[in-house]
Amino acid sequence: MHAPRPLTSRKAGALSGTIRVPGDKSISHRALMFGGLALGETRITGLLEGEDVLATAAAMRAMGATVTRDGDGQWRVTGVGVGGLSEPDAPLDLGNAGTATRLLMGLIAAHPFTAFMTGDASLRSRPMARVTVPLEQMGARFVTRSKGRLPLAVIGTATPTPISYTLPVASAQVKSAVLLAGLNTPGETSVIEPEPTRDHTENMLRHFGATVRVDETPEGRKATLVGQPVLKAADVVVPGDPSSAAFPVVAGCIVPGSDIIVAGVGLNPLRAGVFASLRDMGASIDEVNPRVEGGEPVADLRVRYAPLHGAEIPAHRAPSMIDEYLVLAMAAACASGRTILRGLSELRVKESDRLAAIAEGLTACGAIVTVAGDDCIIDGTGTPPKGGVTIGAKLDHRIAMSYLILGAVTEQPIRIDDAAPVDTSFPGFADLMNSLGLKIAAEA
Ligand code: S3P
Repeated sequence: MHAPRPLTSRKAGALSGTIRVPGDKSISHRALMFGGLALGETRITGLLEGEDVLATAAAMRAMGATVTRDGDGQWRVTGVGVGGLSEPDAPLDLGNAGTATRLLMGLIAAHPFTAFMTGDASLRSRPMARVTVPLEQMGARFVTRSKGRLPLAVIGTATPTPISYTLPVASAQVKSAVLLAGLNTPGETSVIEPEPTRDHTENMLRHFGATVRVDETPEGRKATLVGQPVLKAADVVVPGDPSSAAFPVVAGCIVPGSDIIVAGVGLNPLRAGVFASLRDMGASIDEVNPRVEGGEPVADLRVRYAPLHGAEIPAHRAPSMIDEYLVLAMAAACASGRTILRGLSELRVKESDRLAAIAEGLTACGAIVTVAGDDCIIDGTGTPPKGGVTIGAKLDHRIAMSYLILGAVTEQPIRIDDAAPVDTSFPGFADLMNSLGLKIAAEA
């Protein structure tokens, strides 16, 4: 348990300035893991130094990789070779990091040792059966708490067998866990996904020298990894995290008169759904200086305030903006007319139940929100909700940041009971947002 760190956000004037958000969390986790398996020295630039990624660094060290920090975002990793991880001599504490947990479960599953994993109260409540089921098919065994939850023990197998697995839920973490188990498995391991999810694992495995084929099949997109590759160290330049960029982008969209630039944002098409959705709502977001960095499309986003209107956001877009619904809901609460967010079942099993966090938090702020099955309907009046409440962050960084952004336009301030979880993904969030003109402060 940590001491709660409340933060309050007050109404702000027009935002201006240029900022850069921290490195992409998904790419940062994978760079440390793959560097830790590759032969030679991998140099990483722009690594996110949030608690989640630091948990991955510690876990890879505990299993034999050499991980060194040279300076801000500059890291070096010397790997142990595919199949070369060693048994950690203490439980791996992954804190709040679901991605670290699930991907490492995959890596460990195909090693002949046992590892224990745990995390904070949020992580210990999250479902892991979605990962243990396919990994057991590959030969690993697990001892978990009820409902497949942490703490758990992974009993890795010395003789993993390849599988072809069709994802029952759209999840890049499950896809990645299976593919990473496939690294130390002879033969070909495939994952078929009915809805495509972020493809950083496939892209970065190729960057490190693995063979990954991607085919469109009648069942969906099929990624196939040829097992037991020699991974070779490869430098990684981590782009700005689009999920983190979504916070200042929404702020620029809802605070009247704003004109801001968020520089160096990763715009992988399987991650950029929130920007498309905001544009559907009338937002003015221009991609300036588009380029490719570290193999990912990147651009500077110029955001100018424009009045937003409601829109229907289709369920098939969910995987490309799965972490951004909370902050998009803040924008919808300021828009005029009805916004319908469809297909949100996965929001219930994130760092918290985010569907509840949208409905309860926005309703407390004075907005009109209805949950119908897996859909969320927000009826905006064109005027922001009044605010004047304390929102419980529930160990969920994105709840804290989303409501702090909303507080920039509500008549009365919005207080977050504990903003400490923000450090998991976006260290320096409040100062960076304040540099644009937001008014986020520690006093209650
Ligand atoms: C992630 C995948 C997503 C996302 C998470 C990061 C990844 O989770 O919510 O923040 O890096 O693979 P799911 O795969 O559970 O949707």
